[in-house]
Amino acid sequence: MNPIQRGVLALCMMTAGGAFAADAVSLTIDTGKPGAVINKDVYGQFAEHLGTGIYEGLWVGPKSKIPNTKGWRNDVVGALKDIHVPLVRWPGGCFADEYHWRDGIGAREKRPVKVNTNWGGVDESNAVGTHEFFDLVEMLGADAYVNGNLGTGSAQEMSEWVEYMTSDSKSTLANMRRKNGHDKPFKVAYFAVGNEAWGCGGNMSPQYYSDLYKQVETFLRAPKQYRPKIIASGGNDNDVTWSEVLSKELKKQTDGISFHYYTIPTGKWEVKGASTGFQENEWISTLSNTLRMETHIQKNSAAMDKNDPEKKLGLLVDEWGTWYDVEKGTNPGFLFQQNTLRDAVVAALNFNIFHAHADRVRMTNIAQMVNVLQSMIITDKDKMLLTPTYYAYQMYVPFQGATSLPVSLKDNPDYSAGGFKVPEISASAARGADGKLYVALVNTNPNKAADVALNIPGQSIKSVKGNLLTASAMDTHNTFQSPNAIKPVAFSAAAGADGKLTVKVPAKAVIVVAVE
Ligand code: AHR
Repeated sequence: MNPIQRGVLALCMMTAGGAFAADAVSLTIDTGKPGAVINKDVYGQFAEHLGTGIYEGLWVGPKSKIPNTKGWRNDVVGALKDIHVPLVRWPGGCFADEYHWRDGIGAREKRPVKVNTNWGGVDESNAVGTHEFFDLVEMLGADAYVNGNLGTGSAQEMSEWVEYMTSDSKSTLANMRRKNGHDKPFKVAYFAVGNEAWGCGGNMSPQYYSDLYKQVETFLRAPKQYRPKIIASGGNDNDVTWSEVLSKELKKQTDGISFHYYTIPTGKWEVKGASTGFQENEWISTLSNTLRMETHIQKNSAAMDKNDPEKKLGLLVDEWGTWYDVEKGTNPGFLFQQNTLRDAVVAALNFNIFHAHADRVRMTNIAQMVNVLQSMIITDKDKMLLTPTYYAYQMYVPFQGATSLPVSLKDNPDYSAGGFKVPEISASAARGADGKLYVALVNTNPNKAADVALNIPGQSIKSVKGNLLTASAMDTHNTFQSPNAIKPVAFSAAAGADGKLTVKVPAKAVIVVAVE
């Protein structure tokens, strides 16, 4: 624990308990009206063949001096296991629509080398293919989300990939999988038909995509117990037409519709904003932009409600996170960026939104797992470091598979700066699979602590215990020189003699606690 973290902890320990402060934000948790279960897959990850996200960051090959298991780095896999990664989406992204699965099976030295035209024009060795990917998810204890190639592929290619992965028959493809080392079918939890069909996936209209999807889905055959959920690739940002059209056209042939939304500090793709060294105006613009996720989910869900009022289809946010200008001196096609306290706050705000919409949002994948965009882990040769976003995921583990509970905030002031305003406190609550009540609190204000008075009708509160993540500066981040500049510390607070409990949430902080 660094001195700042110790100081913050001491402050919290000293002032957290006791009677309600006069100007406290009031948080009421209605334990009597449980909502939907928060699908564990809401905490999914995305690993694309992009930059050093897979090669170097995760995969070093079995002959590397960097300790590995079947080519996957032991340090990185170990750290990812600690945040209980439930699901990994692979191989892209834009890359998926140029990926041909046959390039990635059989003897590695004989696999064709291709050009990764989307991401930096670098050589793609195909060293990581289907079997290697399943080695990874098996080591992580995660499920697999495989993204099919609609852009440059075909119904036949996707149908054969699904057969190769899932068939238990004696077919030539199933036997080829056995010959390549995997006797039993792979468990594919989700299979997506294309990616961003409105853009890098082929610049299609939703109607044209729907027709192609129907054709492809018809031929995706798998034994019942191995059949993946089939996902339609949907829209992004403000555009709800994809959710409207796909939920109407594909209702009977899909399990869910994907949606992408990235948080850009300036809101402009040309000059996005820096990952570090930013001023308060870009702190708040980033948080304000990320909170748009709520409206996007509401609008897409409402569009889907028209055709699917029973909410049979999931809205799957299978790409989200911060997207900054790349770090100076790095390959612009590699999308490498630093990760600060601001990213952890962004992650926590999104988790709270996803929990509130758990009835429709059944899976999300942050972009991306290692070394790319808002990553969990940054590597440099044999070294790795954990980012603030990693710690946000770690703190929220109890929410995986928990039952969401309605929360309401009263007297929650806006924090305003630079022409933006956002609510000061964001909160979420759920009943964990272990029966405990978990509460998450985020203070968006970088200048002022906030008192949050807990009110849980019908339940007495003795104390809360958990973890706190904060730091002295808005852009505090870990580096290889200072890998522990920011990490969570233990946090607890006790009720006062009147049985009431107020949590003092430090400025720019995330807290997750269990209520006792
Ligand atoms: O995550 C990076 C890229 O962003 C993905 O490949 C693509 O789907 C999206 O545009």
